[in-house]
Amino acid sequence: MKTLVIGGTGTVGSEVVKGLLRHQQQVRVLTTSLSKAAALPQGVEAVIGDLNQPASLSTAFEGTDKVFMLNMHSLTEIEQAKNAIAAAKQAGIRKMVYQSIHRAHEFMEIPHVATKVLVEEAIQESGLTYTFVCPNNFYQNDFWFKDTILQHGIYPQPIGNIGLSRVDVRDIAAVAVKALISSELDGLSIPLAGPDVLNGPETAQMLSEMLQRPISYAGNDLVSWAAQSRQFLPDWLVDDWTIMYRLFQEKGLTASAEDLKTLSTVLGRAPRSYASFLEEHLSFFQPVPTLI
Ligand SMILES: NC(=O)c1ccc[n+]([C@@H]2O[C@H](COP(=O)([O-])OP(=O)(O)OC[C@H]3O[C@@H](n4cnc5c(N)ncnc54)[C@H](OP(=O)(O)O)[C@@H]3O)[C@@H](O)[C@H]2O)c1
Repeated sequence: MKTLVIGGTGTVGSEVVKGLLRHQQQVRVLTTSLSKAAALPQGVEAVIGDLNQPASLSTAFEGTDKVFMLNMHSLTEIEQAKNAIAAAKQAGIRKMVYQSIHRAHEFMEIPHVATKVLVEEAIQESGLTYTFVCPNNFYQNDFWFKDTILQHGIYPQPIGNIGLSRVDVRDIAAVAVKALISSELDGLSIPLAGPDVLNGPETAQMLSEMLQRPISYAGNDLVSWAAQSRQFLPDWLVDDWTIMYRLFQEKGLTASAEDLKTLSTVLGRAPRSYASFLEEHLSFFQPVPTLI
């Protein structure tokens, strides 16, 4: 039987797709985009549909028995998730692996985190077999900051001075794939975090050492961060992320020893560190040579 991957053209979902293919699974990806459908790896079936349009979903779910779901930040995130849950029930799907957020129940003030908890509850109420994968902040977010890091020597993510146990998306995908292809993780929420607690200044320091150029932390001023971000992000998203970064600055977002023990047991190894992520992606963070 096939697995439907919702979000399979994005950061985490594309790694879930690769992982399923490595396990010889049949994979279908739901996408709103014809061009992204055409760029999927060989052997992956694409279906065009939109979680905002329930009528477009029955073809996507038909003939599949498991689904990986994440929902992009949007004002309709909860409706999109509920449309998918209803379509999954209608199609007789057996299992849903849903990407939530690390320690979501403790961060309900953040709108996109409260949404994740509501979706978790809707999945539990639906009667579907489920696993929740619950990631901390992704290392791969730093790809967005390449220009600021290289051109201005600044690490701009205002994560504060307490620290986060950030995670590599490939570890999220590894756990999601395990949940999809076996019953070992049924009914569980798996924390997804990295082994280090890194704050803003420490992150900038590691980048400086790895890239051998001075990089400093932009600081904790969320008023300036929001003003700059409003130039390229919608107001609702800037407001949401301002609450998130304020709470990161006030409380941090760290993994407990038990979280890391659970995760290492599921992965069969330690989670990837930020240093190993940077080492692997050093070439990405190098300036593009200019032709003279
Ligand atoms: N970034 C972090 O640090 C972090 C940490 C914890 C949790 N999260 C959560 O991770 C999720 C984002 O994951 P990501 O970064 O992998 O996402 P992403 O790279 O932004 O990709 C979003 C995916 O959602 C699909 N999508 C968007 N709108 C859709 C719609 N209306 N119908 C069907 N598919 C749709 C896109 O498909 P097409 O474009 O092909 O249609 C794409 O595959 C969010 O829920 C976020 O809260 C993020």
